[in-house]
Amino acid sequence: MQDHRQIVNLALIGFMGTGKTSVGWLVAENMQFDFLDTDEMIQTRTGRSITDIFAKDGETAFRALERQVVDELSTHEKTVIATGGGLPTNPENLDALKTHALVICLWSAPEKIWERVRHQSHRPLLHDADPQKKIRDLLVAREPFYKQADVLINTDLRSAREVAQQIELQFKLATRQ
Ligand code: S3P
Repeated sequence: MQDHRQIVNLALIGFMGTGKTSVGWLVAENMQFDFLDTDEMIQTRTGRSITDIFAKDGETAFRALERQVVDELSTHEKTVIATGGGLPTNPENLDALKTHALVICLWSAPEKIWERVRHQSHRPLLHDADPQKKIRDLLVAREPFYKQADVLINTDLRSAREVAQQIELQFKLATRQ
C-alpha cells in the first residue's frame, strides 16, 4: 500500500465483461454510496458514445479523456467507481485512484468474458476479426496492471451478490480505525 492514502471510495478495475458495472451498482446500493462509471462520465462530458470517440478520434484521444476524468474523481467520497477496462494500463491512473480509493480488480477467464460480451456491440476494441484472440491477448498484456490492485477477486464462480459481499468486507477491513 502507498503512503498518504485516504481511502473513502471504492474503485473497480478489470477487463470488459467482468461485472464492474453490475457489481458496482449492487455495492453502492448496499453501502449507500454513490455510483460513477468513467465511461459514462466521458460520454456525458463529450456528448458522444465511446464507439464514436474511438472511431473518429482514436484510442489515444479516448485515453486522454480517461486520464482527465480520473483526476476529477479525487473530489468524491462514499462513491463506487467502475472504470473502463483499459484505464489501469496507464500507471498514473492507478496511482491517482489509490490516493482515495480501495482498488479492487474483478478477474475472469477469457472464455467467461467472451460468454458475457459476445452479444454486445458497444466495445470498439472487440470489433475485431477474431475477438476471442483479442480478449486473450489483451488479458495477457494487461494482467501486470490489473495485479496492481489492492484486492483481486475471481468472479467466475461467484454470483454478483457474493462478489459484492467480498468487496464490502474488504472495504470494511481496509478502512477500520
Ligand atoms: C475498454 C473498455 C470499455 C471502454 C472502452 C475501452 C478497454 O469499458 O472503456 O471500450 O480498453 O478495455 P468496459 O470495461 O466498461 O467495457
